[in-house]
Amino acid sequence: MSGLDIFLFGVFPYICLTSFVVGHIWRWKHDKFGWTARSSEWYERRTLRWASPMFHFGLLGVIVGHFVGLVIPQTWTEALGIHENVYHAFALIGGLAAGLVMLIGLVGLAVRRLKTPAIRLATTPNDKFMFAVLGVVIFLGLSVTVYWQLIEGGYNYRESVSIWFRSIFYFNPQISDIAAAPLLFQLHALSAMFLFLIWPYTRLVHVFSAPVFYLWRPYIVYRTRDAETEPGAALTPRGWEKSELPGQKTSKR
Ligand code: HEM
Repeated sequence: MSGLDIFLFGVFPYICLTSFVVGHIWRWKHDKFGWTARSSEWYERRTLRWASPMFHFGLLGVIVGHFVGLVIPQTWTEALGIHENVYHAFALIGGLAAGLVMLIGLVGLAVRRLKTPAIRLATTPNDKFMFAVLGVVIFLGLSVTVYWQLIEGGYNYRESVSIWFRSIFYFNPQISDIAAAPLLFQLHALSAMFLFLIWPYTRLVHVFSAPVFYLWRPYIVYRTRDAETEPGAALTPRGWEKSELPGQKTSKR
């Protein structure tokens, strides 16, 4: 284990995670009104309509896959009777499908941004940098899956990468585990850490204000205006009212 390994896998993750947490708090305190996805739906909808759901639903699949592969120990899935070969087959098919859907969505969003003049003008160097980093993380993730799991027939990262990943959160990083993993896994993990480092200073902050509670919002109750006498109906008429001259008799509606 070299000094570089210690820095990259034992120190750098903490720099990134500190930036992630402190950066979000700082951004919320100093830039509440800049806390937005800066939607460009107004300028172009045709591509956005398929590219955005593809990117976000693909991402959802990738998050679920990463949770199972990185957070849940192999011993737990084995205790449930899920053999490594079965896990591997599911991770390969599900991961590839979700990763490809996400990549196609990201390419669609990037092309739309470049091809629509108004959106191109509204794209800052910060956005371009964030898109590039996101693209590298996804590309390296897919390369890992295609090369190691499909072409090479499988590498059990749950015995190395996943152990290191969990150990970060116990504040006892198992550096030798990830240092022994193939280079592509290391590069993917490092690029993901870098994404977490820059996250709070980009438009990715919108993830924490996505209107998910909309799914559970109370029903909107519509009432007919004719039923003014029914219990609970609005008694005061809404909208424009006829203007009346002074002394004019109020007409009966
Ligand atoms: C430190 C954090 C991360 C680690 C340790 C990690 C690790 C891995 C591993 C081990 C795989 C191979 C999975 C398999 O083939 O079964 C993978 C694949 C992948 N990763 Fe990550 N990853 C991290 C963060 C991210 C992030 C933040 C993104 C995207 C924004 C991402 C996107 C992908 C994609 C698209 C794939 C290929 C599809 C898949 O197998 O899910 N990863 N990652």
